Amino acid sequence: MASRTGHPAGAAGGREVLAFDLYGTLVDPIAIAGELGRLLGDADGREAAGLWRSKQLEYSFRLTAMGRYEDFCWVTARALDFALASVGGRLPDGQAERLVELYDHLRPFPDAVPAMRALADLKYELAVLSNGTPAMIGNCLDNSGLGEFFGQRISVDEVRAFKPSPLVYRHAAERLSVTAGQVRLVTSNAFDCVGASAAGMRTVWVNRSAAPFDTIGAQPDLTVPALDRLPAALGG
Ligand code: LAC
Repeated sequence: MASRTGHPAGAAGGREVLAFDLYGTLVDPIAIAGELGRLLGDADGREAAGLWRSKQLEYSFRLTAMGRYEDFCWVTARALDFALASVGGRLPDGQAERLVELYDHLRPFPDAVPAMRALADLKYELAVLSNGTPAMIGNCLDNSGLGEFFGQRISVDEVRAFKPSPLVYRHAAERLSVTAGQVRLVTSNAFDCVGASAAGMRTVWVNRSAAPFDTIGAQPDLTVPALDRLPAALGG
């Protein structure tokens, strides 16, 4: 259904913006595990990759809970230090920096570009809302071929707090000049869905791995197994 502005309408008939999470939703972090496997061997590489991602999120949550902020590039580098120490891995000089830079070169999931093209053709307004710094978001979108779809790029850096702080979601709505209820957050991270719902947004959970959803907070308004199912799920 189109609103008077010609944009697809939200449930209340007003403008609705689709805001996408970046890492793990639009772009695939798998290359990082592959590179760690090459440097540390398969088993340690896999373990380090899992620890890196979970510690990265844990540090972002903890900093926000403490009322402190360091940007996502710093958080990512410190989480890698922890992951390497945990598996007893040592990397040649410069390799840790290079691994962090891989975040700028992640590939889009195969369903991402076709889905964004279909949504753009349906005149949906598309935005990115990410924990990444503005430079990380810009590099990642531009290097992945997703840049053309996203004029609106919102970094948590603008409020110096990480997801799922309500500050992040309220700020995103403000930047998009809509109410929180007019934003639909699309994310593969359950904590991001729950945080966005708590701040008044509608949500889509991209569940590529048939995982169970979190057991606290609101269930997602929609669940899709891949981004290319989104236009149909939204009724487009
Ligand atoms: C992001 C992380 C949470 O892009 O995936 O915000």
